[in-house]
Amino acid sequence: MFLHNAMSLHDYLSLAVLAIVFALLLCTLVFQALTGVPPASSNATEAADIVALLRKAGLRDGAVIYELGAGWGSLVLALARAFPDVQIRGVELSPLPFCVAWLRTRGFSNVTLLRKSFYDCDLGDADAVTCYLMTRAMPRLAALLDRRLAPGTPVVTLSFWFRERTVAASLKSAGLLGAAALYYWPARDAPSPASPPVALVEPPEDKGQSASSASSAPPASP
Ligand SMILES: C[S@@+](CC[C@H](N)C(=O)[O-])C[C@H]1O[C@@H](n2cnc3c(N)ncnc32)[C@H](O)[C@@H]1O
Repeated sequence: MFLHNAMSLHDYLSLAVLAIVFALLLCTLVFQALTGVPPASSNATEAADIVALLRKAGLRDGAVIYELGAGWGSLVLALARAFPDVQIRGVELSPLPFCVAWLRTRGFSNVTLLRKSFYDCDLGDADAVTCYLMTRAMPRLAALLDRRLAPGTPVVTLSFWFRERTVAASLKSAGLLGAAALYYWPARDAPSPASPPVALVEPPEDKGQSASSASSAPPASP
């Protein structure tokens, strides 16, 4: 028998589903190669640390937080829940993570997702920025923030820190590989006059030394 006679509709559908899954995975790998950043998610504890640092920075109602590299939307969701009166703008380039993030956050009126490169974002209305990227992306991101952020804007990064910038506070809960760091941009040596006072967020008592050591040096990469 010829192949087309031997294959049932069910076989064709299965092949089509497999082809779509393969294409989506391939697309995600291509975007990972382009950006140099895999779509890993921050977990609930990491998100809680980031939220705690942003609370320390003191955001007004109606403020705008840009989540640069929103991935599958985990941190966008955590921010939207923690700051219901703040607008969260998640920016993600890779189509599959973007679609999943969009599905996960569609019930939140304070979330907007943008499928684009964050290097193409104006950021002129940013009251705070969060990111969880990789070593390779940090210098170019620092240059972008230098150009686009108002002085004193809080920036919180997870695991991968900015080199030669002054950390205002850091937090690392037990068991996590990387710490979250808060900067008041541009965070060069002394805090800018517009910055709130520099202060450390102390870790819970039994949770080790790394959280309290604010420094411009990055922690060990995970
Ligand atoms: C490690 S994931 C972080 C996910 C999310 N922030 C979280 O905490 O759950 C980093 C994401 O940044 C995205 N990304 C990297 N460079 C980007 C760029 N220039 N513009 C938009 N997204 C980018 C990647 O596609 C990836 O999904």
